[in-house]
Amino acid sequence: MSSWSGAAEKIVHRPDLGCAVRERKIAPSLERETAHIFLMKTVSAQWDVAILVCRKCSKKAGGGFGEKGRTPLAKALRARGNGKKGRKASLAVVETGCLKVCPKNAVVAINGARPKEWLIVPKGAVLDEVAEGLGLEG
Ligand code: FES
Repeated sequence: MSSWSGAAEKIVHRPDLGCAVRERKIAPSLERETAHIFLMKTVSAQWDVAILVCRKCSKKAGGGFGEKGRTPLAKALRARGNGKKGRKASLAVVETGCLKVCPKNAVVAINGARPKEWLIVPKGAVLDEVAEGLGLEG
């Protein structure tokens, strides 16, 4: 266990509990208040950009993109990435639940770096224009 270093709170690693414990000194007594916090790990990803696409809109549009108009927007956008999947993809396209916009014959898409600007993509829109609207390069 570590000692108090003037701070009112400290984190003590407790392998016996499998987590770290936050201890707070309650002045003027020496009693301690503890709360369990769990150590969180991080993993790296190669994502340059993350695009959110409403899955429900896509389903209602019956695909709606690509040459035959049957490809879902998420799949069509993923094809613009580096061809890798998951964390190794350069362009992440994440399908979400309903975003409460629910346009008719269109799909809601959001660039994660520009969360205040949601794009309503009409069914059958040209993918280059969609990519430009989402701020994707090339
Ligand atoms: S169905 Fe897509 S925003 Fe509601």
